[in-house]
Amino acid sequence: MKLNIDTRRTIGKRDKMIYGHFIEHFHRQIYGGIFDPGNPLSDRDGFRLDVIEAMRKIKVPILRWPGGCFVSAHHWKDAVGPERKPSFDKAWRVEEPNTFGTDEYIAFCRKVGCEPYICTNAGTGNAEEMSDWVEYCNLSNEGPYAKQRISNGHRDPYKVRYWSIGNENYGGWEIGAKSAEEWGRLVTESAKMMLRVDPQTELSAAALADLDWNINLLRNCGDRINWISIHDYWDAIHQTNDYADYEQSIAYTNHLDDKIVKVQGILNAMGLQNKIRIAFDEWNLRGWYHPNIHTVKQGLTTADYLTPRDLNDENCRYTMADAVFTACFLNMCNRNCTVVGMANFAPVVNTRGCIFTHKDGIVLRSTYHVFDLYVNNLGETVLDTYVENMPQIQVREKTGGTVGMDALDIITTLDTHEGCIVVAAVNKDPHRAWDLELEWVGPFVSSVYTIQTLMGTGTESYNDINHVDAEPGKPVTVNYNPGTVISLPAHSVNIIRFANPVNKN
Ligand code: AHR
Repeated sequence: MKLNIDTRRTIGKRDKMIYGHFIEHFHRQIYGGIFDPGNPLSDRDGFRLDVIEAMRKIKVPILRWPGGCFVSAHHWKDAVGPERKPSFDKAWRVEEPNTFGTDEYIAFCRKVGCEPYICTNAGTGNAEEMSDWVEYCNLSNEGPYAKQRISNGHRDPYKVRYWSIGNENYGGWEIGAKSAEEWGRLVTESAKMMLRVDPQTELSAAALADLDWNINLLRNCGDRINWISIHDYWDAIHQTNDYADYEQSIAYTNHLDDKIVKVQGILNAMGLQNKIRIAFDEWNLRGWYHPNIHTVKQGLTTADYLTPRDLNDENCRYTMADAVFTACFLNMCNRNCTVVGMANFAPVVNTRGCIFTHKDGIVLRSTYHVFDLYVNNLGETVLDTYVENMPQIQVREKTGGTVGMDALDIITTLDTHEGCIVVAAVNKDPHRAWDLELEWVGPFVSSVYTIQTLMGTGTESYNDINHVDAEPGKPVTVNYNPGTVISLPAHSVNIIRFANPVNKN
């Protein structure tokens, strides 16, 4: 197998927001997750310092909040000001204390160093409530809501640039679900009012890879939105929690970009490809486990619908399957960097997140280390490379049967600042290593490379409290000359960096 690299052939520059994250008012993501007042590990604002440190290490560029399904019946005005009255969260059937609201969220984003990205209520909410939220966040002092922010102790506007209109309003499970026709009209009027308040906002709208929904949406407000939001959870175990095993999880990496290709086709057909980008603003291999809530017949007891959510916290479930899948998804975003400008891992903390919190600390799950390797090594320019003689593997699908696919998933990037070529090579094969050769076309030369590998001790490796079996080894430096073969271990994510100062910008 040979990877052909020509630094003159580029796909484009990836937006760092493809390494974004999402957090929702669900289970322990907020309360007991990032917001844990009274815990000795929290600062005086109640934010977990160990979580902030971990999120800063993976340079979280943007954090979408507060939902997710939660947002479709949430009223932001309940969660600002000195008096916070609890509300009943009809999305998740729990009491929402409203002690973590806009001001706390913005403060948290400032400490992490990430852009805020607020998702508005297009379920029971309306254009006015959404645009009032923009007033509260972005106007200096005009009108009642900016003045309210000031009286709440926040003199300067937050300048929240990214806003999403709605969350999955196409789905029967969503509170305030809409028809395609209703959606086009609501987004238009909401976008109109939000832009009247702050024309510098960038707006996204909930969408899916569906022709009617998107044509209606884009015909109505293609001129007012900058992003189209899509979501996916491949192992859809929301109701059953029956995890796909390693091979079944890898099977999902076949055609990961199906939805992107469809949405991109619609954007191209409508001449919007240079105006609107895709925000894949919820994604994860595994759906969150919350049985008997998105069903017509609701669970009657908390044992039916609430206690089972604790099973999302089983750290042993987040293995090399999740890490390999996550790396393949991030590779796909890099390869599609001309149309995918943002992606948000759902969620960042607890549930299926890459960081797990407990009262005495945090666990960095296998997926966290993929973000760490990618964000802190890959370059901004994605090269158009190809692999000769790509080996094929057969893997079992969860639905039965097997599917054939490439054994490896490789992207090549150029870090123009450092003058480095950085390759992310994922070996999906559960059983064997594969050797990689490189063919250099063009001016790049290098005589040494470093390789850092995340592979665990097996496909089922995971990290937990007092148990670490899925974290990267130290980078290893190896002399290189053309013809050198690089071995990629089974079930591994590898970052291979070729340095050559002569190429520095
Ligand atoms: O399972 C969690 C839910 O997944 C999010 O709240 C929603 O946006 C998506 O359907």
